[in-house]
Amino acid sequence: MAVENVAPRYIPTAPPSPPETAKHSQATSLTGERQSAPLALHSKKNLLKSYPLPPQNGIKSVQPQDFKTPDSHVERDPRLIRLTGVHPLNCEAPLTDLYNEGFLTSEDLHFVRNHGHVPVCEDEEVLDWTFSVEGMVQRPFTLSVRDLIERYEQATYPVTLVCAGNRRKEQNIVRKSKGFSWGPAGLSTALWTGVPIADLLAQAKPIRGARYVCFEGADKLPNGHYGTSVKLNWCLNADKGIMVAHRMNGHALHPDHGKPVRIIIPGQIGGRSVKWLRRIIVTKEPSDNWYHIYDNRVLPTMITPEASADLPNTWKDENYAIYDLNTNSAICYPQHDEMVALDGNQKTYKVCGYAYSGGGKRITRLEVTLDKGRSWRLASINYPEDQYRNAPDGDELYGGKMDMWWRETCFCWCFWELDVPITQLADASDIMIRAMDEGLMAQPRDMYWSVLGMMNNPWYRLVIHKEDRFLRFEHPTQPALMPGGWMERVKNAGGNIANGFWGESTGQAEEAMEIKTPEEQISMTNSKVRRTITLAELEQHGGEEEPWFVVEGEVYDGTPYLDDHPGGATSIFAAAATDCTEEFLAIHSENAKAMMPDYHIGTLDKLARSALAAKSVDAEKDVTRSIFLQPKLWSKALLSSKVDVSSDSKIFTFTLDHKEQVLGLPVGQHVLMRLRDPATREAIIRAYTPISQSDAKGTLDFVVKIYRPTSTQSGGKMTVALDSIPVGHFVDFKGPVGKFEYAGDGLCRISGKTRYVDRFIMICAGSGVTPILTVLRAVIDKEDDTTECTVLNGNRTEEDILCRQELETLVKGSNGRARLMHTLSRPSHSWKGGRGRMDRTFFQKYAGGPGTNGESAMVLVCGPKALEDAVRDIFTDMRWDEEDVLFF
Ligand code: MTE
Repeated sequence: MAVENVAPRYIPTAPPSPPETAKHSQATSLTGERQSAPLALHSKKNLLKSYPLPPQNGIKSVQPQDFKTPDSHVERDPRLIRLTGVHPLNCEAPLTDLYNEGFLTSEDLHFVRNHGHVPVCEDEEVLDWTFSVEGMVQRPFTLSVRDLIERYEQATYPVTLVCAGNRRKEQNIVRKSKGFSWGPAGLSTALWTGVPIADLLAQAKPIRGARYVCFEGADKLPNGHYGTSVKLNWCLNADKGIMVAHRMNGHALHPDHGKPVRIIIPGQIGGRSVKWLRRIIVTKEPSDNWYHIYDNRVLPTMITPEASADLPNTWKDENYAIYDLNTNSAICYPQHDEMVALDGNQKTYKVCGYAYSGGGKRITRLEVTLDKGRSWRLASINYPEDQYRNAPDGDELYGGKMDMWWRETCFCWCFWELDVPITQLADASDIMIRAMDEGLMAQPRDMYWSVLGMMNNPWYRLVIHKEDRFLRFEHPTQPALMPGGWMERVKNAGGNIANGFWGESTGQAEEAMEIKTPEEQISMTNSKVRRTITLAELEQHGGEEEPWFVVEGEVYDGTPYLDDHPGGATSIFAAAATDCTEEFLAIHSENAKAMMPDYHIGTLDKLARSALAAKSVDAEKDVTRSIFLQPKLWSKALLSSKVDVSSDSKIFTFTLDHKEQVLGLPVGQHVLMRLRDPATREAIIRAYTPISQSDAKGTLDFVVKIYRPTSTQSGGKMTVALDSIPVGHFVDFKGPVGKFEYAGDGLCRISGKTRYVDRFIMICAGSGVTPILTVLRAVIDKEDDTTECTVLNGNRTEEDILCRQELETLVKGSNGRARLMHTLSRPSHSWKGGRGRMDRTFFQKYAGGPGTNGESAMVLVCGPKALEDAVRDIFTDMRWDEEDVLFF
């Protein structure tokens, strides 16, 4: 086959004219007149082809929100619903648009699941891109895309890719899982062209003992390259259809879908179909890639997100890895919030949607119930995939053989439909569906909740509302943070959506059938509060007077907590009139959550929720501004270097938007740093104090101790994630936060109130030295600041003392204004400083008592919780007032 067969993108080889796609007319939904199961019709050139061809791609462009991300080279369709903010791209099409496109999805609307940035591969580099076939094989080799196309027989067939997270939003509403909220459109179907992997493996000749085939992509992520594995046996089985693909719907691969070459594994979750392929490695054991272990698993339902953090062996258990898809289905029409007239001409409504199963199994029935499963009716099923099986021998599409006639397996979704009299819909309170496959596996009634929220497949349920002369239909959820759906509504009204009856009360039976919610969740709302709050009302509380904020659609008044908030009133002001759900849940303890009902004042109305959700997709920011930090918006800074300062600590340097930009952080305050869990995209947010000078321009430095996992302890979530971010990637910052600020000459502001301090006792340990250092530096750098400082710094070993040199230089140049005492709990023989922990005797000796005779003294503390607790007890005994001891 000739090289020029690699079609340039956006100039389709076929069809040359736009294919007509049978579309459901949205405007006619009130009358219900529309055509049934969608199929693309064919262009003139392909008139003889008796199977569906893809819809034509539209013209795409780089979206403004991608300009500042590593994906600024990728053109995308603006209709895609972004599920994880701006970057990386994880998105699905609106369900109706996806269904209306028909059996095949255009690359424009195909869902995308990227764990990180999209590797760059220019058009002219496509053919020279190489990947290896290596490991337990007799003849390892490296192959270019050119070789792949020229030297091997090509095949083309349709495959539905499904993300294991499809429909996860439903799980997240029952209980938040460690994954972002996919709606029911996390699947798409395309015609893939490439080479059966068995042909490459036959050439490489696996050796005895080889059992797995690992794949690795070119995307370098926080925990290494994305990679996973499947069984060698499956790769060798032609019926499984595992392919190394270089074309999608007749075009060279779009960058989001693996340009220039990827694996396609029919019937299995999309997570195994590695994009931007660099290595195929034949092994004895399953992949040890981080993403193979910590992603795409269904752990047992009793394992909570918190417990899962300490169970490395459970994660590694291959029994919990997901390969084949499970049986699943969704209703596409009626759409969410669709209205159907009761007194119109329409007598029946065509209820329809999609279904799929895994491992090549066929959907053999789709059943619909209007009475909660007491009785069922059969829908008709249409398998467009079968039409490809009728292709004549020798038929080729996009340079690949279309030889599907012999294949028994099903790789694609199917469509189902059922005409239901409208009077029957009017008598019912919901429509539910379940699919069954040829292995007689039917979708379950009840959800199997698990920590990653994957493979969610209970009966798909639409609620029917009778509104005046119309019926209105309500889907279970809406994707991402979009509000809407009966699950959220029922949960907010206090219903138990895990009771097996969709939150409805059924008296006795309910007791008998109750499904345990996976561990009690803490309620943050006050069930007596009934007020609905509009966006306009919320926005009136966006300042420092009566700040209101939103968590999970509920409105809270932060005013009574301004003085007591450990992060200072600024943290509450920064959240005023915003939806701070993600941040709130990432930072706050269960205790803090349990306090929330006291501050709950109402529920945000639907319009306001949509408006806030739209805002939460990081807004375009003015990158020319002189101050980097913004209190209410996350700003991106580029990680430009990592330098080791000890065996477990590093200085992380970030580049701001421009050389003249300053951070904008008052002395003593902190910034919030936001990273995302590499597999689940869950936010990890912590407060840090930079060590760079407060007036530094263009850059930002942090010294961070990395808490690496050991055999007995899981590592620090934040520090491990930060350490694994490659240089050149962006990290989000927001601020300032903190209740303490040092304004110079002894003037402090504490939760907005001012006081003068003559003497500071500064107590720190480990990386707690950073806020202490910034206050010390502010005092010493100003020669006429007469405030005295005693720094007490406790560590384990000499190597653990962070910023030692700067501390000592400052003290030396302080003209007696500062004293410094280091103490080590595990000192070496040659250590000349203090020995032992910072305990009662130590503090009695070095800290001194509280201020007397008009002298004002204050203790500043930053370190681990154990140190803070000890200081609290000891200093109370030493007669220090509570308000003179401040914990950062
Ligand atoms: N391959 C690489 N190299 N990197 C990735 O992040 N994501 C996987 C898989 N292959 C991923 C990858 C996941 S989880 C899915 S569901 C599919 O790609 C999605 O494929 P698509 O984005 O083309 O729809």
